[in-house]
Amino acid sequence: MTEPFNAVDVIVAKRDGRALSGPQIDWVIDAYTRGVVADEQMSALAMAILLRGMKREEIRRWTAAMLASGDRLDFSDLGKQTVDKHSTGGVGDKITLPLAPLVSVFGVAVPQLSGRGLGHTGGTLDKLESIPGWRASVTNAQMKDQLRDVGAVICAAGSGLAPADKKLYALRDVTGTVESIPLIASSIMSKKIAEGTAALVLDVKVGSGAFKRDIHEAAELAETLIDLGVAAGVDTSALITDMSTPLGRAIGNANEVTESVEVLAGGGPSDVIELTVELAREMLAGAGIRDVDPSAALADGRAMDQWRRMIRAQGGDPDAPMPVAPHVEELRAHRDGVIGRMDALGVGIAAWRLGAGRARKEDAVEASAGIYLHKTFGEPVKRGDVIMTLHTETPNRMQGALDALAEAHGGEGAVHISTEASRGPIVLQRLRTHE
Ligand code: URA
Repeated sequence: MTEPFNAVDVIVAKRDGRALSGPQIDWVIDAYTRGVVADEQMSALAMAILLRGMKREEIRRWTAAMLASGDRLDFSDLGKQTVDKHSTGGVGDKITLPLAPLVSVFGVAVPQLSGRGLGHTGGTLDKLESIPGWRASVTNAQMKDQLRDVGAVICAAGSGLAPADKKLYALRDVTGTVESIPLIASSIMSKKIAEGTAALVLDVKVGSGAFKRDIHEAAELAETLIDLGVAAGVDTSALITDMSTPLGRAIGNANEVTESVEVLAGGGPSDVIELTVELAREMLAGAGIRDVDPSAALADGRAMDQWRRMIRAQGGDPDAPMPVAPHVEELRAHRDGVIGRMDALGVGIAAWRLGAGRARKEDAVEASAGIYLHKTFGEPVKRGDVIMTLHTETPNRMQGALDALAEAHGGEGAVHISTEASRGPIVLQRLRTHE
């Protein structure tokens, strides 16, 4: 086959700051998926995009080309509204676990295609796989049946969904090109549009544990994501939420499931409850449902009933005891005061080194590895109090995790005890709300 373009010309155009044409973009994505554009060429192009940026029109076309590289699910005959949530990723972010069953209580279908963790941010599938028997992989037909019968499904994206993104994301991960807004936005939205949801709520994280540390950059990412969703006919809204402190007290896999179940049982940490309820309201508004109180469904057990059905439908045992790590280390307060810093990035890296995350895609995670925060930002401590407990299945991982905590925040440490500190709101900004 004669190729209509040359990869080097496309790279040079972007390197020199020119906008790529629609046909150039269609070709380069398709040719990369076919293996005609080589990894090293796509790496150079990704770096040029990171450095030079892309106009909205280019990002839309890039997203459409990635979408066209694979299958598209269709839930239009389900007889229910579909609405999904996507988080740009954070530390202790287990919100999907209580949120999907909670929203489904109100008769809305939640098709939640999720990923695995890479680097310091956790992955929803890794967390759920710590439940004995639970399967991440379901066929498209099973997914539809579960949405019809139960109302919520959290599962892995099939290999046919946006294959161009699978290849490109793995390449970006090893070429220092993850942080580009056009590349992040097109990667996320090509998968979400392919998933076939009618409405989408984005939880765009900002802070040390997130892709974006600056609220203006987070807002730019959110606006780009919304633009792509709306252009593709997905009713998209976004919240910008704080990720400078880990969410909740549990960071890991099994321990995050346990904390999510506490929330579903009407308890749990206040920040996890607050964000779950805020996102549930926004998702329900996206499905046209406004006069309901999601927190009532957490308090009265309806969300828990949905959770149990959802876990069972994928082979999991919701009553099975969760694994417990045999090796434990405690970090104690060296003086009285208030926790004035609990750095999300430092805690995330420590949990990752304990075995909760993976260094390479093919690595396994330790289900019971992680961190439990007995004290978090804004809470008083007395000298000698346990601030956090570190858990691992592999004792020689412990020192690396302790080092990560000590080296965090420019060497000042992940934890700081000060004289006063109080936690602000979790939701920092709302963009194009459904409410
Ligand atoms: N999540 C994605 O799916 N893609 C990105 O590029 C970043 C986060």
